[in-house]
Amino acid sequence: MADESAPVTTDWREVFEETYAAAASPVQERIWRDVFGDDYPEGVDPYSFVTRSELARFARDVRVEPGQTLLDVGCGRGGAGLWVSAATGASLIGIDIAETALVAARDRAERMGQKATFRRGEFESTGLDDASVDAMMSVDALLFTPSKEAAFVEFRRILRPGGRLVLTSWDYHSQPVGRPPQVPDHRPFAEAAGFEMLEAQVGPLRGA
Ligand SMILES: C[S@@+](CC[C@H](N)C(=O)[O-])C[C@H]1O[C@@H](n2cnc3c(N)ncnc32)[C@H](O)[C@@H]1O
Repeated sequence: MADESAPVTTDWREVFEETYAAAASPVQERIWRDVFGDDYPEGVDPYSFVTRSELARFARDVRVEPGQTLLDVGCGRGGAGLWVSAATGASLIGIDIAETALVAARDRAERMGQKATFRRGEFESTGLDDASVDAMMSVDALLFTPSKEAAFVEFRRILRPGGRLVLTSWDYHSQPVGRPPQVPDHRPFAEAAGFEMLEAQVGPLRGA
């Protein structure tokens, strides 16, 4: 049984550095391919539950075009952001807490012949300038930030006025020990930071 009052003791940077130091697991890939079937995002190597149709939705909803900049925070091996960048023509900046993820992401971009920048940063401190990105995405990563509030304030700071933020994360009511505290609903944090909520899907997804 998860102890919700337990302090955050896990060093997530260390965990993810180790995770991405190894190649993507073929067993995990086979399981995801079996579960998602035709919706499995072939060649993306996600470390998340993202599907092909969700990537298409990211590409549609971020509303970016060639010449504009798309940011993927918690980008992992970079596959999801590179997919959306290729689909929209926008330049990609990927940010992750783990250097090993960035190494894998740079290698992927080079193999794909795609121009992208991958740099170390965190949700609450991306290191980017004010209003410097045209749109933002994040796939199944926001749950790892210790402060959702600080993350949305940072998103608002670096996103140009009118720019879109599209993300997936989990609303947990209870947590395995060691995970940062979660929130039952991210919308109040987004709205308090100045975002206008255009759409939210809360609850079981992906046909659950
Ligand atoms: C479940 S993985 C998702 C990776 C990627 N979005 C994908 O779809 O493959 C979560 C990612 O969040 C990153 N992460 C964890 N804590 C972070 C933080 N505080 N700031 C930025 N990224 C973080 C991890 O290194 C990891 O790559």
